[in-house]
Amino acid sequence: MDSYHIIGGKRISGSHKLTGAKNGVLPILAASLVTGETCTIHNCPDLLDVNTMLTILKELGCKVQREKNTVIVDSSQLTQSYIPKVLGKEMRSSVFLLGPMLARCGAVEMSHPGGCAIGARPIDLHLKALQKMGAKVEEENEKLFCRALKLKGTTIRLDFPSVGATENIMMAALSAEGETRIVHPAKEPEIEDLQNFLNACGASIVGAGTGEIVISGGKPLHGAEHKVIPDRIEAGTFLAAAAVTKGELLLENAAPFQMASTLAKFREMGCSLRTEQDRIYLKAPQRLKAVKEIKTLPYPGFPTDMQSQFLTLMSLADGQSKMTETIFENRFKQIDALKNMGAQIELQGCSAKVIGVEELRGCHVEAKDLRGGAAMVIAGLAASGETIVEKICHIDRGYDKFEVALKNLGARIERIQEDEREKNYKCEKA
Ligand code: EPZ
Repeated sequence: MDSYHIIGGKRISGSHKLTGAKNGVLPILAASLVTGETCTIHNCPDLLDVNTMLTILKELGCKVQREKNTVIVDSSQLTQSYIPKVLGKEMRSSVFLLGPMLARCGAVEMSHPGGCAIGARPIDLHLKALQKMGAKVEEENEKLFCRALKLKGTTIRLDFPSVGATENIMMAALSAEGETRIVHPAKEPEIEDLQNFLNACGASIVGAGTGEIVISGGKPLHGAEHKVIPDRIEAGTFLAAAAVTKGELLLENAAPFQMASTLAKFREMGCSLRTEQDRIYLKAPQRLKAVKEIKTLPYPGFPTDMQSQFLTLMSLADGQSKMTETIFENRFKQIDALKNMGAQIELQGCSAKVIGVEELRGCHVEAKDLRGGAAMVIAGLAASGETIVEKICHIDRGYDKFEVALKNLGARIERIQEDEREKNYKCEKA
């Protein structure tokens, strides 16, 4: 398993062009197979999870081509409705294929995506909604069989604004009879991007980003061309690296209006920020200020995918901070590693109390999940001495050439290729 070797203490400064949003492109790639035609997706990042999704689409019979950051998917000839276990287990986001496959061919079989590093991640909301639309769902020793001769539009009130469940319902509703209303949907920008893509394919969807999404089913769909929105979590991650190393960073191809809650917390911690249409400029203070409490919430609240990175910032801030995670039940896995580096953190239930220290010491740590791994890299960049971050496959799932971009911004970071001994390590799902 590859690892990173980092020599800390260098300021992260310069400019970085953001790539397309991982959590935007995954449902859009899945949705493309509903059209049965050719879709061209621009600004598609080169990530492990994206490549796994493309492999699954090929397995289902799609023709897939990649030309740099443009992916072309021709779904005219689907040859199967079964997603091999090895691929389904490889990436949780295979669950996004439930809706599109039911809409396209009325059947899908996959291994239950199961839990992952950050929590149990049930899909009960997805299945309950699809059943309410008329799908038959059977679960048999880790396998999931969904069938629907005809899906019917209905009103679905989500108990929790689940991103994946909202997306699956939107995609299944494309071929449902009549209108489907999603009440209390997720409002993330990636939902709006999916709506825009599907409407470009001929769908009729309104309300993404509001408290109710309405899909008029049965519209004839066709191929389309679409540019994925920027990755707001990649943006926040790079800003965090500059913030904690006294750096200055200009982000290009950004969407600052989608990051209000995150940018507000950078300001609260003493960073000066300027934003324009598609750029964000951050100048870090000599030392970050503690922040009384950050609580992760569904969008537009503070994103859970920025929690780990801000825990690292709090570890070095001047004073006492508190981080409360309300979305996932197991997303504080890098606390022990941060404490080995000298951080003072006490976990109390779903809150972490942090007393900032002047300095972290480099040491040998392990990435436990995607954003926790990125947070450990940020800690290593800020720490004195050398840090080794093991199992960076987690990071490769969600960041496109992470170390290359950081090196261009002044970081001393090298990727150490895995050795034979660890070749068979399988990276847990994101
Ligand atoms: C998406 O995951 C993102 N992944 C996650 O990003 C992100 O953290 C999450 O939304 C929340 O914003 C992708 O888009 C590929 P949820 P998703 O359904 O859809 C519970 C990253 O780091 N829940 O909104 O799986 C669930 O257990 C990843 O890029 C149910 O109980 O998230 C969790 O506690 C990590 N039943 C909460 O809802 C369900 O049927 C939020 O889950 C579904 C979810």
